[in-house]
Amino acid sequence: MDFQHKPVLVAEVLKLLEPARRSTIVDCTLGGAGHSKSILDLLPADSWLVGIDQDDDALVAAGKILAGHENVKLIKGNFGQLDVLLSGWNRPIDGFLFDLGVSSWQLDNPERGFAYQHDAPLDMRMNQEGALSAYAIVNSWPAREMTKIFRTYGEEKWSSRVAAFIVKARENKPIETTGELVDIIKAAIPAAARREGGHPGRRIFQALRIAVNAELDNLRLGLEAALEICAPGGVVAAISYHSLEDRIVKLLFKDKAAGCICPPEAPVCQCNHTPEIRILTKKPIGPGIAELENNPRSRSAKLRAAAKLGSNER
Ligand SMILES: C[S@@+](CC[C@H](N)C(=O)[O-])C[C@H]1O[C@@H](n2cnc3c(N)ncnc32)[C@H](O)[C@@H]1O
Repeated sequence: MDFQHKPVLVAEVLKLLEPARRSTIVDCTLGGAGHSKSILDLLPADSWLVGIDQDDDALVAAGKILAGHENVKLIKGNFGQLDVLLSGWNRPIDGFLFDLGVSSWQLDNPERGFAYQHDAPLDMRMNQEGALSAYAIVNSWPAREMTKIFRTYGEEKWSSRVAAFIVKARENKPIETTGELVDIIKAAIPAAARREGGHPGRRIFQALRIAVNAELDNLRLGLEAALEICAPGGVVAAISYHSLEDRIVKLLFKDKAAGCICPPEAPVCQCNHTPEIRILTKKPIGPGIAELENNPRSRSAKLRAAAKLGSNER
């Protein structure tokens, strides 16, 4: 199976990141290197692209696509540890891109166990060496813990029923495949409710994927580190695909862009809080009609970006 992934909002990302002005851009979610390739085509010859992914398949595919470029460094790792991954990099870094979630390759590859459409072993690890898999959650977590993630990460109304049905099913034998899990979810959600809101497995699978990969914690850590490391004048851009991700990006940007945060009744500022960034996207940027027609998976994409301020701009 060839590595297939259509990059999303490429022109919009390039407009915000302005590769031609940059010294080093870090693509924190290399995937199939669609964004990275477009960035590299515009980067000055003495500038660098650093590509990070936690998935070995992505690194192999991206390595082939970017093979003709010399100013590229690929790193295997989790962007939740961005400061460690970039600690040896001694040039200014003035661009960061996060294109969150899974790639089409990961989703469409049955072996990876991400999709409710394919019957495959329950896995969902983006990092093939990760300690936690969907199998472990479904077969060993207490119902209460599963209910919590189904509710928080999947916003599933029938969370506790699905968790109870999972616990009941695993009394007989372990739940091994995505297909078995889909059947349990279908049995747990009443028929009338199943007719609304798309595939009944969608929200539970999203919740499991987020939990397996600690996606929201890593996003907070990675984005915060990028905003910290980014050189003044540099840009941090993030594309999110669901409201939980977008909320983290939006709130972190808002927090870092805030000036004085003293209560309005305070006569003089005591917080000494100064803005660290300027938000470049007042509203998130989504796909246009042409992109939607050409790539339905871009449907939920939201791009936000912020510029790091220098100490004289704060
Ligand atoms: C949506 S795809 C990126 C696609 C890429 N922009 C392109 O144009 O091909 C997301 C990629 O980020 C990786 N990823 C997600 N979370 C990660 C994390 N915390 N650390 C490192 N890589 C991560 C996934 O393995 C996946 O390959």
